[in-house]
Amino acid sequence: MKAVARLMKMTEVVKIDILNPDMGEISRAAKLIRAGEVIAFPTETVYGLGADAFNAAAVDKIFLAKGRPAHDPLIVHIASVDQLASVTVKIPDFVQRLGNHFWPGPLTLVVQRNPALPGNVTAELDTVAVRVPQHAVALALIKASQTAIAAPSANLFSGVSPTSAEHVFQDLNGRIPLILDGGSTTIGVESTVLDCTIWPPKVLRPGGISVEALRTFLGDVDVFQKNKDVVTFVKSPGMLDKHYSPSAHLYFCLSTLPEHYQPYFEQLIENKLRAGKKVGAIIVNEDEAWFASHFSSIEIISLGSILHLEQVASHLYAALREMDARGVDYILAHDFGGEGVGLAIRDRLMRAAFEVGCCEGG
Ligand code: TXA
Ligand code: MG
Repeated sequence: MKAVARLMKMTEVVKIDILNPDMGEISRAAKLIRAGEVIAFPTETVYGLGADAFNAAAVDKIFLAKGRPAHDPLIVHIASVDQLASVTVKIPDFVQRLGNHFWPGPLTLVVQRNPALPGNVTAELDTVAVRVPQHAVALALIKASQTAIAAPSANLFSGVSPTSAEHVFQDLNGRIPLILDGGSTTIGVESTVLDCTIWPPKVLRPGGISVEALRTFLGDVDVFQKNKDVVTFVKSPGMLDKHYSPSAHLYFCLSTLPEHYQPYFEQLIENKLRAGKKVGAIIVNEDEAWFASHFSSIEIISLGSILHLEQVASHLYAALREMDARGVDYILAHDFGGEGVGLAIRDRLMRAAFEVGCCEGG
C-alpha cells in the first residue's frame, strides 16, 4: 500500500537559477540524496536521475523509477578530478590527463571500479563509468551531497532523453520526489563514453566531446563499430539497439545529401498520407523552402542551420518529443555527417529508427 501511495504523489519541480543557484534548495535536494532518495537534476547534456552511488538501496530505486533493466550500468557523477580516487582503484596517467583537460564536460571515462561502490551501480562489471558534469546545479548538488551521484538520463527506459524539466516531469511524475529545474540543457545529447581500460581507448558511445577532439588530445582513439559498411554503433554493455525512441516510427535516411533524402522522403510522405497517416519531418532551416513548396499537410520542425550542428544536437530530443505530442504516426529525419557532434546525432537517430534508408552514404 505504501508503494502505491508514493507513486500517486505528484513530483515537486523547483526552478533553480543556473547562474546563481539557491543554496537552500540545493541543500534540501542534497538531503534527499543523503537520505537515499532519487531526484532529477540538470546537466549540460541531458537531465540525470540521481542517487547516492554508495547506497545500493538508493541505486535500486533509480532502476525502479526508470523501468531500466539491472544489466545496464550507470554513470557515476563526481564534482572534480580529485574525487576520481573514491570510485576507482587505479588512475592511469592518460585518464588523469583526460580528466584535467575535458572535465567538467560531456566526457565519461570507463575505468576500474573501486570495490567500495555497490555492484548494482555498474551492473556487477568490474569497471565504472565516471564523469564531472559542466553544470552549476549538478556540481553544487554533488558537492552538497558529499558523495558521488549515480545517474542515468532521467527518462523512462528506452525513450527519448530529457533536455528540460518538463520532459522529466512527463516521464517520471509520481515516481520521484523532486526535479531541479535548470531550464533547457545546452548540449542536448549525452556524454561521449570512452573505455579507458584498454589502449588505445575506445569510444563506446559518441557524444558531446567529439572523436576528433579526443584524437587531437590523445593521438590514438578507437571507435566501436558494429559493422564498418553500415555505420552503426554497438551499445555499451547492457544497451539495447532500440533506444532513444519516440512513440512514432522514425524513418532515418543515412545520407546528408538532399538528392538522396528528398526523393526518399517524398515517396514515404506520399505513401503515408495516402494511407491516412500523420507525418512529421525533422529538418534544417536550409530545407524549409523545399518542404513548404512540396507538402502542405505534414508537421515540420527545424532543428536550426546545417552549418551549426551544435544547435541541431541541442534541439534534437525536444523535436522527437514534440512530434509525439503532435500525434504523428511517422517521423522523417536525415543524417548530419560523421564529424564532430554529427556522429552522436547519427548514433541516436540510428538507435531510434524504425527503418534506416538511403544507405548510399554521403
Ligand atoms: O550525458 C550523460 O552521459 C547523461 C548525463 C545524465 O550524465 N547520462 C547518461 O546515462 O546518458 P545513461 O545511463 O543513459 O547512459 C550511460 C551509458 C550507457 O551507454 C552505458 O552502457 C554506459 O554509459 N556505461 C555505463 N557504465 C559502463 C561501463 N562500466 N562500461 C561500459 N559502458 C558503461
Ligand atoms: Mg539514457
